[in-house]
Amino acid sequence: MAAGRIGKAKKQHMDRREFLRRASIGAAGVMAGGLGGILPAKGGQRTRGPLLGIAIDNERDYWPILPGQETFVQRMVVRHLEGDPNKIQPIPGSFLAPTLRLTKGDTLRCLMTNNLYDPSIIHWHGVNTSEHNDGLPNHDVDQGGVYNYNFPIGNRAGTYWYHPHPNNFTGFQVYFGMAGSLIVSDSEEQSLPLPRGEFDFPLIIQDKRFDDNNQFLYGVNPFIGTIGDRVLVNGKPDFELSAATRVYRLRLINGSNARLYKLVWSNGLPLHVIGTDGGLLDKPYQKPYVMLGPGQRVELWADFRNLPVGTTLTLKSLEFPGTAVGFGGGQGPHNGSAIDVMKVRIDRNEIESLTLPRTLASFERHDYSQCINADRPRKFAFSFDGGWFVNGHSYQEGQVARNEIVENRTLECWEFVNETGSLAVTHPMHIHGPQFQIYRRSCLPEFRSAWKGVREGYVDEGWRDTVVLMPGERVQLLIKFGPHAGLSLYHCHNLDHEDMGMMRHYKIV
Ligand code: C2O
Ligand code: CU
Ligand code: CU
Repeated sequence: MAAGRIGKAKKQHMDRREFLRRASIGAAGVMAGGLGGILPAKGGQRTRGPLLGIAIDNERDYWPILPGQETFVQRMVVRHLEGDPNKIQPIPGSFLAPTLRLTKGDTLRCLMTNNLYDPSIIHWHGVNTSEHNDGLPNHDVDQGGVYNYNFPIGNRAGTYWYHPHPNNFTGFQVYFGMAGSLIVSDSEEQSLPLPRGEFDFPLIIQDKRFDDNNQFLYGVNPFIGTIGDRVLVNGKPDFELSAATRVYRLRLINGSNARLYKLVWSNGLPLHVIGTDGGLLDKPYQKPYVMLGPGQRVELWADFRNLPVGTTLTLKSLEFPGTAVGFGGGQGPHNGSAIDVMKVRIDRNEIESLTLPRTLASFERHDYSQCINADRPRKFAFSFDGGWFVNGHSYQEGQVARNEIVENRTLECWEFVNETGSLAVTHPMHIHGPQFQIYRRSCLPEFRSAWKGVREGYVDEGWRDTVVLMPGERVQLLIKFGPHAGLSLYHCHNLDHEDMGMMRHYKIV
């Protein structure tokens, strides 16, 4: 294994010169043709359309987060190589990676260099790519290794994100600072009257714990994962958004290792949800509160017009039961404990004429009766035995079981089952590749009272790549595989569960 890793790193290392050579050919192509041209790359996808070329260097660093001593972090340092540099938007003062703003049809090229001690690989969460470009754990590279990506963005407009995905170290690397948002736009979205520019705001939400020397405390509880006692938003403690009396499109990304949020506004401001993991909903949905599990995204229409200047409101997460309280976690925070996420301070009057659209995007609803396995959903049951298992298996690089092979371009029903008796643990299950739709949910009777405290906050009306399962819950989802054949992945996006084996490949043939 060690020898294989070194070999892999060396091989990738030689690709660096080749990548730079191709990058300059690409730039020349842009100048000559005005478009990116066709740029096939080894193992990559055929791509055309405007190009963004970036380098990501995974680095160790120290960063001022709290007053006093700097905090050890790990960072994805992004550099512009080619294409429109405005598509890379750094978060001022943050250790997090910049926001990438792309348009459907763009090509993203990236040369990742891993300067961490541990293996790493970057994954584009929610983006449907080929096997080579997905950033799978079996493609992680050692220190000094490089990996290159070259793929077209085929996804709908939406809020996606990028983060490391090495085998065994994902939770650690994300917790120590490696995450960034990847926002995709398309013509349908651009035609809608939605807030833009500074009023369209990505917010990466992550709970952390600091020790007395301002260092991140990373302690994996095998059942709950790493839970913090304070939230950083976009890498900032006590985050406060200075807002005008306008409408904001807030794109919330749960980049936490293990914590679920039950979100409400402290002043009772209505929660109009306009988008989920895979982009805009068909219309806005108003929710009493919104559940957001690790890996998930939700887009809110936040209308601050009727608030007097000087108002401060808090986006907070309410306590909810049924999530492994007491499993070695003692009395400390658990993944259903209450916590404040951020504040909004209304600091100026401005005129705003937008109204909440009655309809948003149009998309096809998958039809259960059209599934090739409608009579017998493909079932995945979770269990714990010193590590986490799916159908009795834990992660093995490259390995698929018979039940993990699906046919390209078919619609299937998948059923996740979280019924492991007394182990009352939540699992936010994520599938790489195509976005899916939620068909139905159910819950064992003995867990139903806790379930009632969260279920009205599920946003199951649109496209998802990650679905929360509460203890005792069973979810059926509809997923159409493809268009890329090859190895893919599904796993729990509680990153500590993932690192403890709750991850499997599936294969599209
Ligand atoms: Cu956000 Cu497989 O991960
Ligand atoms: Cu993913
Ligand atoms: Cu889990």
